[in-house]
Amino acid sequence: MSCKTTPDGATRVTVIPGDGIGPEVVGAARRVIAATGVRIAWEEREAGAAVFRRGLPSGVPTETITSIADTRVVLKGPLETPVGHGEKSANVTLRKLFETYGNIRPVRELPGVPTPFSGRGIDLVIVRENVEDLYAGIEHMQTPGVAQCLKIMSRKGCEKIVRLAFEVAVAQGRRSVHCATKANIMKHTEGLLKRTFEEIAPEYPGIEARHIIVDNCAHQLVRVPEQFEVIVTSNMNGDILSDLTSGLIGGLGFAPGANIGNDVAIFEAVHGSAPTIAGTDTANPTAVLLTSAMLLRHIGEFAAAQQVEDAVTCTLEDGVFTRDVQADGAVSTTAFTDAVIARLGRQPRAAAPAREHKPLRLPQVESRPDFVAAGRRRAIGADIFVEAAETPESLGRSLEALAETSQLRLKMISNRGTKVYPPSGAITDCVDHWRCRFVMRDANADLSDEVLFDLLHRVKSRHRWMHIEKLSEFDGALGYTRAQGED
Ligand code: NAI
Repeated sequence: MSCKTTPDGATRVTVIPGDGIGPEVVGAARRVIAATGVRIAWEEREAGAAVFRRGLPSGVPTETITSIADTRVVLKGPLETPVGHGEKSANVTLRKLFETYGNIRPVRELPGVPTPFSGRGIDLVIVRENVEDLYAGIEHMQTPGVAQCLKIMSRKGCEKIVRLAFEVAVAQGRRSVHCATKANIMKHTEGLLKRTFEEIAPEYPGIEARHIIVDNCAHQLVRVPEQFEVIVTSNMNGDILSDLTSGLIGGLGFAPGANIGNDVAIFEAVHGSAPTIAGTDTANPTAVLLTSAMLLRHIGEFAAAQQVEDAVTCTLEDGVFTRDVQADGAVSTTAFTDAVIARLGRQPRAAAPAREHKPLRLPQVESRPDFVAAGRRRAIGADIFVEAAETPESLGRSLEALAETSQLRLKMISNRGTKVYPPSGAITDCVDHWRCRFVMRDANADLSDEVLFDLLHRVKSRHRWMHIEKLSEFDGALGYTRAQGED
């Protein structure tokens, strides 16, 4: 990814001060970068609360999109997300608009910041998938009382994030990468990430590759965090794990981050707009200062990036803290920033030796939509989702009668994933949302749309259906999972 410069050689960067404490901490980062001597031509643009208030539901105006498309590098403050009023998160919109598929969130023990883990040498980075998974934001009320959110994960998305994680490991001289998934439960979505990881790992023979179940990863992160170097994970898991890892090193005030895509990189701290302390000059700017060090590396300013990190470390070593670390003797955001600027060029006393950073090589993954093509495919049935307020037995008998002369037969009905018909003896507290699985009577036959439409006509004569999903086999492998209790 190439950076854009002005005619006099300054690097062009879009800056979005953001909401709440955003303008204070982003302002601090701009001052520190200026003090390193690196010349940046900032293009200040808006997004977030003020834009929502003006009635733009995306929260991201065209001028902001145009500037980012042009500069390709962004320093961004936190943006407030209105809760539950239909507006989408402007953060998620920005990440998706520019396909910043990788969210890199490093945490490193900082000297002087007291935590239960002080002295353990925590130094790890979470590489979180940033655009897929439950954050695709595809949600539907399927009945008045039952909601659904689609978890979309693609082989292409998994390949991009896994390759990025290994490249981060290479750029930072790391020896191991863990892949944290819930593949034991979600075999097709989370399982895709695990399989992709296992296939790509041999291309990086110098790096130890290990899979770990994500709940155990959370447990291990609290027990023995120093065992981890790079953790690659899906969007939702990464969101949660990275807040946890921020907590390990002193809190959100210390956790930097970058959203990386092949065309655009958006640098932002992990924390939000902290509305309760906004405008009080008390926020901790460390997270955004470390974020700006990541930005400096991205634009090739490796020495300045190291200078900023070292100056932050020296400031903390000298016991200069904001209020989130200690109430007594805390300094303001402005005073902390001044202290960092005063220490530019100094070497930390006690900190672990600086990591050597090489330029991050962005993975080149083919962009064609049909990233995986199947040689053979077959539709062998369909799940028809029905809304009904009756017992599994009466629904089952009714559907069997309706399908009596169809080429499809009712195989089973499940309620929130557990088989309830034919009865299995399970005690299930059912809701009015039934997944009714039909399969071809002739196990070798291919289901045609005509047969499916005919069945749907029959079902709708007595029941309300709201969703239908084909059951497919790709190259002989089942493209769906069985219900709990289904044989
Ligand atoms: P938050 O990160 O703003 O605050 C959580 C807690 O951490 C609060 O106690 C806050 O005071 C403290 N905190 C956070 N950053 C700090 C800093 N630099 N210095 C000192 N203390 C700090 O998370 P919350 O309250 O869940 O979200 C507030 C708003 O921010 C919401 O509208 C949310 O949607 C948005 N948000 C935006 C993000 C982004 O733009 N990337 C990320 C997370 C939340």
